[in-house]
Amino acid sequence: MLPAVDLKPPFNITRASHIVLHVSDLKKSRDFYVKIIGLVVSDETATECYLRGLTEAGHHSLVLVQTQGEATCRRIGFRVYFDEDLDVAFKWFKDQGLPAAWAEVPYQGRTLHVEDPFGTKLELCAHMTVRERMFLKFEQFTGAHAQRLDHFQIFAPDTYKSCEFYSRLGFRNSEYLAHGDKLLGAFMYRKGTCLDLAIVENTGPKMHHFAYIIPEPQLIFTACDLAGNFGYGGSVDRGPGRHGPGGMLYVYLLDPDGHRIELCDGHYQTIDTEVEPVRWEAASLSTNVRWGLPATERWYSHASPFEGAVLNKPEKAPSPLTLETYIQQQIAAKAA
Ligand SMILES: [Fe+2]
Repeated sequence: MLPAVDLKPPFNITRASHIVLHVSDLKKSRDFYVKIIGLVVSDETATECYLRGLTEAGHHSLVLVQTQGEATCRRIGFRVYFDEDLDVAFKWFKDQGLPAAWAEVPYQGRTLHVEDPFGTKLELCAHMTVRERMFLKFEQFTGAHAQRLDHFQIFAPDTYKSCEFYSRLGFRNSEYLAHGDKLLGAFMYRKGTCLDLAIVENTGPKMHHFAYIIPEPQLIFTACDLAGNFGYGGSVDRGPGRHGPGGMLYVYLLDPDGHRIELCDGHYQTIDTEVEPVRWEAASLSTNVRWGLPATERWYSHASPFEGAVLNKPEKAPSPLTLETYIQQQIAAKAA
């Protein structure tokens, strides 16, 4: 069912590290991520803002870049262990006929820009400028006290092929969602918890959401309360709720440009090689919650495009049970 994983991959990606987003109003977005999510500003200019979570020593896990154009996702970033891994990665991507180019990025060591076979824009680096971990600076805490970036979820037009690609790079599945032989969702990791990269089949490549870990479940409600008070009540996009896969408590919010962020509590450890991925049988992507109403159509279809990426549709369009359809079904059942 799942592609073979290379447990000794050609180079060592260690974890999801950072994300770079275009935003249409830098101050507005900065306020959203500081006052509601609780990130700390590491550095900022008139056009860029570098933020990190309270337990993060790396300079940034979120970079906001002012744009006059479309508010796309520029790149999702992963760490490799050593600088040498970058040289191996450069050659590996070139050998596969995939884009690979060196880039100069502030506060990062040598940085490599690469793409997966569907055009997902990736950034690899081994080092960043180090900043103080802030998790004991209680007097400075804001928002939901976001601790660290945990994972990304992307849309790909073929989950299996995408999963196969990342399996060659050592990504393993903690859990997956399938219907018969069809893989619909792959929940993959490198760092030894449930997730670094979730892949869901839909028109892509797109960035569906990025997730930060919060330290206490009630902070999910704090984020919702603050979103309401700062004028983003309608941007609480899904939840609070509890995932089936991974079992995390979650809420999703849309930032001022519609980039989606998830706040969730932690999940289990996955390092040991003998443990098999957990299969979730589902005819659609809609049955992976433990309780609560289905997500809206917006949650299933809206995602941030990657800058300059060409979109491809999946062979079969996804047809999840949306909240809209669910309500129509309830009304029809009542009338019958
Ligand atoms: Fe997630």
